[in-house]
Amino acid sequence: MKTYALYHLKGGVGKTTTCINLAYLAAEENYRTLVWDLDPQGSATYILNQPAALEGGIRQLLKLESAWEDVIKETTIPNLSLLPSDPRNRNMDLILDNLKHSKKRFDRVLHELKQHFDYVFLDCPPNLNVVAENIFQSVDFVLIPMIPTILSKHSLNQVYHFFETHEYDTRKLIPFFTLVDHRKKMHIDTIKDFQDAKQRMLNAIIPYSSMLERMSVERTAIFQFAPKSKPSLSYRKLWQELKCFRKPKPIL
Ligand SMILES: Nc1ncnc2c1ncn2[C@@H]1O[C@H](COP(=O)(O)OP(=O)(O)OP(=O)(O)O)[C@@H](O)[C@H]1O
Ligand SMILES: [Mg+2]
Repeated sequence: MKTYALYHLKGGVGKTTTCINLAYLAAEENYRTLVWDLDPQGSATYILNQPAALEGGIRQLLKLESAWEDVIKETTIPNLSLLPSDPRNRNMDLILDNLKHSKKRFDRVLHELKQHFDYVFLDCPPNLNVVAENIFQSVDFVLIPMIPTILSKHSLNQVYHFFETHEYDTRKLIPFFTLVDHRKKMHIDTIKDFQDAKQRMLNAIIPYSSMLERMSVERTAIFQFAPKSKPSLSYRKLWQELKCFRKPKPIL
């Protein structure tokens, strides 16, 4: 039972793409897997070919007014379920702000989901708000996709800094490189800099590939339409590596 959030302050870095592909791989191994689309843009919900949630959804769940079974949809991928995006998640920070003990409630919902699923993947919007704080507090791991540019170190440091100042466990943070173009010197140099600095991160690297862009056309994970492609193999490597990460032990 593990929970992973795909998170970064930056938009368009491959959070949704990675979330769906990793969830697919977990489901393929017969694990009961859930994608929780927390982004009001609903990209994961769209790719998994589901309509957005009807009235209520996560709101009711957080207010403890509806059961998890009522808000979860099956997808066409065996073992993979979806908690669809609610366009009103845009106000989720307000909902959580207004709820008493919101962190406990979010934690309780995630705890409940963990009783029914082996893996839960949360696709997060690129914000640093109360929703993100709830996520940081409750999940086991926060996966951070990074495009290897000069600014990637800076934005990763911002996430680390936020964790430290709010006393979240930085051992949850697992960065990895994606959208990597091996023809670009800046990409190669940045990856080398991170390796030389012995930054704790996944070794597998996801290349830039237009195949991955096709996921929103095919509306499924890459493995279903380009199983032997380079990005498919890279995501498999990433998943194998990720599975070996143990949950950080609670700090006493
Ligand atoms: N490795 C890759 N190579 C090429 N294109 C990619 C790759 N990963 C993602 N993309 C494309 O880049 C765009 C952004 O990806 P994605 O939606 O996964 O990012 P995101 O971080 O979830 O964005 P947002 O912050 O808007 O939610 C999409 O069009 C996607 O198809
Ligand atoms: Mg996204």
